[in-house]
Amino acid sequence: MARTVRLEATGPLKIEPSTLPPEKPLFICQCGLSQRFPFCDGSHKITRDERPGSLYTYAKDAKSVVDTRPDPGV
Ligand code: FES
Repeated sequence: MARTVRLEATGPLKIEPSTLPPEKPLFICQCGLSQRFPFCDGSHKITRDERPGSLYTYAKDAKSVVDTRPDPGV
């Protein structure tokens, strides 16, 4: 399973350590679907039904799959 992710940023996001909550875990999005990227917002839950060997495209709000096809990268 894989997914295409549309990213429009052209530069980095600066994170000041002083703005982070002290002594709390910080979760970084690895699925690419977070609406608060680079931080996880729970959007990854929609990927639970993804099947190996398929390539998924999600709607911009990451709430629905708009396309599924065989993963050409497999
Ligand atoms: S890992 Fe991407 S939203 Fe949680």
